[in-house]
Amino acid sequence: MKTFINGTLWQDTKGEPIHAHGGWILFYGGWYYWYGEDRRSRYYVSCYRSQNLTDWEFCNHVLTMDSKMEGYRVQTKLQLQNGDGGKVNLERPKVLYNRKTGKFVLWAHFENGKDYSEAAAAIATCDTPDGDFTYHGHFNPYGCMSRDCTLFQEDDGTAYFISAARDNADLHVYRLTDDYMNVEALVHRLWQGEFREAPAVTKIGGTYYMLTSFCTNWAPNQGKYASAPAMEGRWSNLSDIGDATTYGSQPAFLLQKDGRVLYFGDRWGGDGEKYFTSGYVVYPLEEHEGKLVLKPTVEAAL
Ligand code: DGJ
Repeated sequence: MKTFINGTLWQDTKGEPIHAHGGWILFYGGWYYWYGEDRRSRYYVSCYRSQNLTDWEFCNHVLTMDSKMEGYRVQTKLQLQNGDGGKVNLERPKVLYNRKTGKFVLWAHFENGKDYSEAAAAIATCDTPDGDFTYHGHFNPYGCMSRDCTLFQEDDGTAYFISAARDNADLHVYRLTDDYMNVEALVHRLWQGEFREAPAVTKIGGTYYMLTSFCTNWAPNQGKYASAPAMEGRWSNLSDIGDATTYGSQPAFLLQKDGRVLYFGDRWGGDGEKYFTSGYVVYPLEEHEGKLVLKPTVEAAL
């Protein structure tokens, strides 16, 4: 079995670097589909798949500058290139399968490629997990800024979009419509003024846990977590997790596999060319009587 070293850029089954940063894994039809940012060339989001979490086969550049665009709502802006024909930014893509519509629905953080002022949520869909996604544009949920984001799906199909609002000061939780194509309620404005980024949610034994980072651009910082009896229930205050740099990482997402919870994080390289050296970490996340503990392993805990 392949081993990956935490903090490095990993390779796919062809020996090519895996570019799926700020990512997400969706389990569907016996496969783990890993989606993430791919800032090379004209790509935005790339997808890899695996059955064992160590052999990652490249599937497709599922969202690119040339993706098909299809309007969905009047005020959803269709823009996959900036005014100069350059790239926009689509960060932290997350994908859910919607059982009612049969669509794979992607949500991401949209910026115009020049600065971080747009702070919008973007959506795209596809009929297959790794096909060419159709882009449906970006918007500001209830007019709010929306930056670092994640999704969470309940067993009954109810889904939530969680994103950093008010210049990152607050973290909003939105319940999605049945088809996952819009927000239908702003259910929480969490930890106002705490500037939490990089949300990642999981449910362990009936309790919901959310990990977040502080805002320090690409530099890692002290991770924190909170818990709640329900997504729409009351969330606790924030407690520290890991060390002052969250063991050199920022949360990407949390994955449950065989009774274990895996913390996937990014070890960002930085701006410009350094971004492409960004690596991944997977640490075991353990829960003991409601408290979460992250284990800083050298090898990825896959
Ligand atoms: C921190 C965010 O978590 C990342 O996704 C990215 O937007 C960087 N900031 C950019 O500085």
